[in-house]
Amino acid sequence: MSEDEKSLFEVLPSHLDTGLRGIPVGTCGTSFVDPVDGVHYAGYPISDLADFDPEDIVHLLFNKSLPTAEESAAMKQNLASRSVIPEGALDLFESIGEGQGHPMDWLSIGIMALGRAEADDDILEDGMNLIAWMPELMARLFMKRGGRGDIARPSNPSLGMVGNFVSMLGMESDDAHRAERVLKSFLVLHMDHGGGNLSTFAGKAVASGRASLFSSIASAMNALSGPLHGRANQSCLEFVQKVGTSDSNEVEAFVRAELAAKRPIFGFGHAVLRAEDPRATVQMSIGEEVCPDDPLFSTVRTLREVVPRVLGENKRISNPNANVDLVSGTLLYNAGFMKPSYYTTFFGWARVIGITAQIVDERNSRGGKGVPIYRPKYIAKDRTVRRV
Ligand code: MLT
Repeated sequence: MSEDEKSLFEVLPSHLDTGLRGIPVGTCGTSFVDPVDGVHYAGYPISDLADFDPEDIVHLLFNKSLPTAEESAAMKQNLASRSVIPEGALDLFESIGEGQGHPMDWLSIGIMALGRAEADDDILEDGMNLIAWMPELMARLFMKRGGRGDIARPSNPSLGMVGNFVSMLGMESDDAHRAERVLKSFLVLHMDHGGGNLSTFAGKAVASGRASLFSSIASAMNALSGPLHGRANQSCLEFVQKVGTSDSNEVEAFVRAELAAKRPIFGFGHAVLRAEDPRATVQMSIGEEVCPDDPLFSTVRTLREVVPRVLGENKRISNPNANVDLVSGTLLYNAGFMKPSYYTTFFGWARVIGITAQIVDERNSRGGKGVPIYRPKYIAKDRTVRRV
């Protein structure tokens, strides 16, 4: 091990109370994040994967190899064959009052509710079932929470997971195609991001205590729901709407005024990345393809040009570049999903896949013994022993 590598394992006082930022705690086989080239799934740069079917990327994350044509068909068939949600498994979810609570709460409750149909001590089986049930859970969430009642069409898993979701929402022809185009790539781009992002870490930590897959993934969704993590994609679309112009000078004035008022500039910077997020670059190309003249997309295009320069004036900002959230909300909006409060549920749907693959890997590690229960150390602020 080189001196540089060794220093990776040295814990210093300056590491404390920093949210474990950058401290190595484990190994991850599904993906790694390069600060410049972004996330790679099983070694493949994300930009090479954006046009694959989501089911193929499920295969990749679980098997660490891209599927052959036969394997691709087998994964699609496997998921389709499991797609019927067992009777009664959504009772708890169905009892939430319409329209109340954040959609991420619904997602988490829905996943917990599905735990009623847990398999006997088979985490891979639970994982594949949950992935197969997600399109219908998502469609029911959108319809019921939105006050639109039952799904518009019965589940038809032969349409693929995204096609089936779009169909259950009742979308037709061109609208359905555009939604499918945008959502397929959204899912692929968001499935995994190494092991240390908050939702993945939280899900794996809960799973390490041998909690069920459903409880672990629901915990991950709760972690994802925070505005500093997954809910940033909702905030970002709201921010883009607030900018309200695509004129460079006006955008620059707006950004400077936000900074002066100490308000956040959404869609830029990242905990690990030090260049533009390749997922943002891919989504910019999709925007140029599906909605080049859309006013919101024009705002995004200008923000991407202006903000890195303005933020770059502050030498303490290590990455002033666009991240995945800058473009994703605008694409979803154009794809017919007009309510930003639902956007994090799409992120959640995608992460269910990556986090499940990571939990299965951790459960199979150490020759099948599984990863030990997570138990990091906290240093007492004060070790003085007091007496009553
Ligand atoms: C992401 O997808 O960018 C993350 O989940 C955030 C992170 O990596 O910390």
